Amino acid sequence: MELTVNGELREVEVAPDMPLLWVLREELGLTGTKFGCGIAQCGACTVHIDGIAARSCQTRIGDLAGANVTTIEGLGTPEALHAVQAAWVEHQVAQCGYCQSGQVMQAVALLDLNPAPTNEDIDLVMSGNLCRCGTYPRIRAAIHTAARNLEG
Ligand code: FES
Ligand code: FES
Repeated sequence: MELTVNGELREVEVAPDMPLLWVLREELGLTGTKFGCGIAQCGACTVHIDGIAARSCQTRIGDLAGANVTTIEGLGTPEALHAVQAAWVEHQVAQCGYCQSGQVMQAVALLDLNPAPTNEDIDLVMSGNLCRCGTYPRIRAAIHTAARNLEG
């Protein structure tokens, strides 16, 4: 089947019940998206499907014909970071880093829908993305910075 990943049309031949997460990591070599719980409880595997944040561990590839998938690799480049990635660097958000690509993808999706979120908005939307290192205060600060920079 065909799907678009980070702007490129990709052809994959896999069982229809294979999770998108496996397709990204094993078939397409896009290892920025992480496997955490595998049961849609941690958010480590968050990507965008047609612009909406989704848990790739619980998304069957067979349901995605023609979909547009964006992963962390498709956001910015080292030379031109996405505003959210730049804010993450500015606030030194990451600790061990494991949860962070999912956090960034969720934050980008949040700002797409709500360009000026309050602390409550942020906590509500980001609460499904767990961080064992407890970087939540820095995540919140970085989202506010990214929101300001995207507006300006
Ligand atoms: S690995 Fe998908 S939500 Fe945890
Ligand atoms: S930075 Fe370590 S789990 Fe979030």
